[in-house]
Amino acid sequence: MSAPSMKLTVKVWRQSSPADKGKFVSYERDDVSPDQSFLEMLDELNLDLIKKGEEPVAFDNDCREGICGTCGMMINGMAHGPVKGTTTCQLHMRSFNAGDTIVIEPWRSKAFPVIKDLVVDRTAYDQILMAGGFVSINTGNAQEANALPIAKEAAELAMDAAACIGCGACVAACPNASPMLFVAAKVSQLALLPQGQPERKRRALHMVQAMDELGFGNCTNHSECESACPKEISVNNISRLNREYMGAAASYKPV
Ligand code: SF4
Ligand code: FES
Repeated sequence: MSAPSMKLTVKVWRQSSPADKGKFVSYERDDVSPDQSFLEMLDELNLDLIKKGEEPVAFDNDCREGICGTCGMMINGMAHGPVKGTTTCQLHMRSFNAGDTIVIEPWRSKAFPVIKDLVVDRTAYDQILMAGGFVSINTGNAQEANALPIAKEAAELAMDAAACIGCGACVAACPNASPMLFVAAKVSQLALLPQGQPERKRRALHMVQAMDELGFGNCTNHSECESACPKEISVNNISRLNREYMGAAASYKPV
């Protein structure tokens, strides 16, 4: 037998454009299934708004499987909501109680300006990645995978760092709006693997420089990022980023 449906109030940030001041609007929901996902609850709200001739709530989403990183929003003041290691799209309404008021806001950061309602512009993350978060392949085919033996521990740590989905929750949760956990995950993932070595120093320097230029804050060890990260990326990666950056700053010579 399915669990009884719930009555809830959702208080949603509505902002028609980047120039609009924005405000919270409350909506009563009478028939929310605990088995619904959070985004399905918003889908139903939007269907009702459309039926009434009102503007639906704009929110980003794509995979709805915790992979693409687009669905981030603040839920009751927590990035991606109250369940640890869970993206908004994988959050279920059973995490809330009948009678709750759920406050839903976009990420709040100067580097992620609001486009509309819950949708923010995360181009700044793309710009950090373009500064160095890649491995250049300048000639020939990709190497045969087994030609490069990788120690198991390094492979595991690189895989853990590679789990970052670029959602921006680390920035949203940080009191300084710092993207250090994101940058650290991207730098670590490649610094730990042989394929990442040729551009290792340049990568660390350029990605940190891009982060500074794009208006993000810096890390002062609050660790809110690790708590909010839906992929549970460890702040140990930030220590590794600091070592990578200092080593590169001391020895990198541009060619
Ligand atoms: S480190 Fe975590 S919170 Fe930050 S962008 Fe990556 S997945 Fe999202
Ligand atoms: S919609 Fe892709 S991670 Fe949530």
